[in-house]
Amino acid sequence: MTETFDMEVPILGGKPSPFAAPAGCYCLEVREVQHYTDSLFRFRVSRPKEFRFRSGEFVMIGLPNADKPVFRAYSVASPSWDEELEFFSIKVPDGPLTEHLQKIQPGDTLLMRKKSTGTLVNDALLPGKRVWMFSTGTGIAPFASLIRDPETYEKFDQVILTHGCRTVPELKYGTDLVESLRDDPLVGDLVRGKLLHYPTVTRETYVHQGRLTDLINSGKLFDDLGLPRMGPEEDRAMICGSMAMLKDIKELCLSHELEEGANNKPAQFVVERAFVD
Ligand SMILES: Cc1cc2nc3c(=O)[nH]c(=O)nc-3n(C[C@H](O)[C@H](O)[C@H](O)COP(=O)(O)OP(=O)(O)OC[C@H]3O[C@@H](n4cnc5c(N)ncnc54)[C@H](O)[C@@H]3O)c2cc1C
Ligand SMILES: NC(=O)c1ccc[n+]([C@@H]2O[C@H](COP(=O)([O-])OP(=O)(O)OC[C@H]3O[C@@H](n4cnc5c(N)ncnc54)[C@H](OP(=O)(O)O)[C@@H]3O)[C@@H](O)[C@H]2O)c1
Repeated sequence: MTETFDMEVPILGGKPSPFAAPAGCYCLEVREVQHYTDSLFRFRVSRPKEFRFRSGEFVMIGLPNADKPVFRAYSVASPSWDEELEFFSIKVPDGPLTEHLQKIQPGDTLLMRKKSTGTLVNDALLPGKRVWMFSTGTGIAPFASLIRDPETYEKFDQVILTHGCRTVPELKYGTDLVESLRDDPLVGDLVRGKLLHYPTVTRETYVHQGRLTDLINSGKLFDDLGLPRMGPEEDRAMICGSMAMLKDIKELCLSHELEEGANNKPAQFVVERAFVD
């Protein structure tokens, strides 16, 4: 099979893969892998010079482990200016992609289709005073990109990253990231005073507890942050999580009189699922 390789030989598990990369894909080199829990990890890969995307968009990724590899949608968690691409991933037991993806090591090859897309982009929102980023689980990934993009801070005076998880270890990707940004040479000055972080868990004791929906409904989220209730004049929102979470937070945004937008019709909030249930 090796004669089918015309450009690059994909590497998997530290060894040349017997499968050629499908046409129309980038072959990216895995540079770094960090595991957080038995169901969450982050990895960084090389970035082709010509690959352009908007912070908050997603791409399709796969592994060179079959003639017809499984591709899945992934939000790019790094900002559009970064020299590498970062992803934050679930590990689904027996998941067609992630049962293999969770084993990648530096030096391995990640396949990525060449086009990016998505609705969680700054362009899909009208200007406002503040932007609320509502996420649960791996839904934080597009916001990990947007909170590192200076454009987000040019557009909004306050950027509020909320992240709901079941347990405290699942918050670590987000808490580490926010912590690292405060001293970041590029966005540190922008982030200080503008970025507010509200991590909350539902199944353990923590400084913030409860579902984001309940925290919005009770007003505790706003009181804890010292901010007024959401409204259409000042507030914009982006939502990323499970289908149930999207539905419930979307209803809350509508009840606070925010109007849903899209790439071709910017408005006051936008929605994208973090996975297909
Ligand atoms: C627009 C979009 C963006 C996405 N971005 C990301 C991302 O940045 N990171 C990421 O890990 N996944 C993301 N996903 C989900 C991803 O596409 C895959 O579903 C996931 O990698 C699992 O792949 P799989 O083949 O192992 O299992 P699949 O067959 O795809 O999924 C099996 C089941 O696992 C559960 N599941 C899948 N993904 C998740 C998840 N992320 N969190 C919790 N449960 C899940 C669901 O119940 C699903 O039915 C995104 C999905 C969409 C639609
Ligand atoms: N995370 C894990 O430890 C774990 C382990 C094994 C399997 N799984 C499976 O993986 C899938 C996803 O798990 P996940 O934990 O990443 O995502 P999830 O089930 O969507 O939960 C993430 C967080 O969102 C909250 N949430 C759920 N529905 C909500 C809604 N409608 N509005 C607001 N908040 C909501 C959850 O609170 P609640 O706790 O109140 O639901 C939890 O705090 C599920 O199918 C799950 O069975 C997860």
